[in-house]
Amino acid sequence: MNFNLNFRPIQRNIKNGLIEVAPNIWTIEAKECICYRPPMQPRYPYTYRAIVIRLKNNSLFVLSPTPLTPELRTDIDRLGNVKFIVSPNHIHHLHMGDWSKAYPEAFLYASPRLPPKRKDLNFHKTLKSNILEPEWADEIDWCIFGTSQGLLDEIVFFHPSSGTVIFTDLIMDFDPANFNNLSKVTTRWNQMYKHTPLGIQLAHIFDRAALRAALNTVYHWQPERIIIAHSPWLCLEGKEEVKKFLEKAFDWLNPVPIIIETVMSLIRFIAVFLVILPIHFLIVLFADIIYPKVKKNLSKYFVI
Ligand SMILES: [Fe+2]
Repeated sequence: MNFNLNFRPIQRNIKNGLIEVAPNIWTIEAKECICYRPPMQPRYPYTYRAIVIRLKNNSLFVLSPTPLTPELRTDIDRLGNVKFIVSPNHIHHLHMGDWSKAYPEAFLYASPRLPPKRKDLNFHKTLKSNILEPEWADEIDWCIFGTSQGLLDEIVFFHPSSGTVIFTDLIMDFDPANFNNLSKVTTRWNQMYKHTPLGIQLAHIFDRAALRAALNTVYHWQPERIIIAHSPWLCLEGKEEVKKFLEKAFDWLNPVPIIIETVMSLIRFIAVFLVILPIHFLIVLFADIIYPKVKKNLSKYFVI
C-alpha cells in the first residue's frame, strides 16, 4: 500500500507547548521526553502530548496531562475553566496529581485499571463502559479498547464538532532519527511506526473480538482528523486518509476464521509466558544491572 499520507507538522517556536488543532481543541506538546521501556526493548525517549477540548459552557476537558508550568497554566486559564482531568489508560496518569492540586474543583476520571495504581488520587468516576458520560454527552464520545481479559485497556475519545479522534498508546509513531542504531532495529521489530506496538498486540490475547467492535465504533464516527499521543507530527487530516491510516495501523485485528483465532490465541498465550517474559527479564537484568556494574568497574581502568 502506498502510505504517503499528509501529516500536519508540529509548528516550531510554540510558546508553552499549546497548539490549536481545530476550533476548541488543542494539544499540549510536552517539552521533555519521557523514558519508558516496552517489553523486551531498550528504554526509548518518548515525545508525548496532552489534549485540551473546550466544551460549550467554557469547561475544559484535559486528556493525558503533561507537566503543568506556571506559564502553561496562564495559557490554559485563558482558554476556559479546567473541569475534567482524564486518563485514557493506566500508563498516562503521571501529572494528574499536579493538575488536580492546581485545579481542586476539577473532576478526575480514571481508565478502568488506574484506580488501584493511583490510590493517592480522588477519582470522581472510573470510565468502565461505553455509556455516555452526562457531563460531556453531546460533545465528546468515547469507547474502550479492551476488556478484563486483556492486559491493557485504552479509552479512545472523539470530538464530533472537529471530527477528531484521539489515540494514546494503541497506535504509535516515532522519528527514527532520535534513536541509536539498536533502537532503530528494536522499534521496527516492535512495530512502533504508524502501528499498534507488538507488546500491546500481545496484551490482547483473548479479547480481540471486543477490540474489533471498538474499532468499528471509531469507523462509525467517520473521523476526519486523528491525533496520537506519541508521534512526530501533530495530526493527520482527511476522512479517507484517516480511514486508510487506521486500517493499516490495526491490520493485526483483521477478522480471521474462529478456529484460527482460537489457535493463535493459545500460541500468543504460550509465547507471552514462555518466551516474551523470560527474554524481557534477561534484557532488564543485562541492561539495568549487569551492564551498569561492568561499565562502572571498567571505568576505573579505562576511559569509556
Ligand atoms: Fe504512552
